[in-house]
Amino acid sequence: MRTVLVLNGPNLGRLGSREPDVYGSANLDDLRVLLTEVAPTDVTVDVRQTDDEAELIHWLYEAVDANTPVVLNPAAFTHYSYALRDAAALVTKAGIPLVEVHISNPHARETFRHTSVVSAVATGVIAGFGFDSYRLALDHIVRLN
Ligand code: DQA
Repeated sequence: MRTVLVLNGPNLGRLGSREPDVYGSANLDDLRVLLTEVAPTDVTVDVRQTDDEAELIHWLYEAVDANTPVVLNPAAFTHYSYALRDAAALVTKAGIPLVEVHISNPHARETFRHTSVVSAVATGVIAGFGFDSYRLALDHIVRLN
């Protein structure tokens, strides 16, 4: 049984009620159901969310230690957390895929969202497709690993 970690940063626990015009009306449980449905039967999708930078970093260490591919929505940490970037680099430098995803298209929004400090160390970036961003990332990981 293979596992894919799907890690979500701050405020994504509020999906469903948070700015539905931007993020839609589905919540994290809906995301968990969707990804579990589309994943092959031998793949476990472990969807987690935290508002805590240290916890997110420790989950990336866990990915390195267990050789687990990662789908990461760093949320607002995307734009300024060098600590998270360095932890993400540990994953990809170990040869483990890490796909950065965003529900919205940050480039079509406020200027501060146009910068990602994570993208340069990610395997790739998928943004702007709602929950399909996660689905596309999972599909890539499942096909290539
Ligand atoms: C986000 C985009 C970020 O700019 C924002 O801070 C989020 C969510 C997205 O999924 O579109 O919290 O990562």
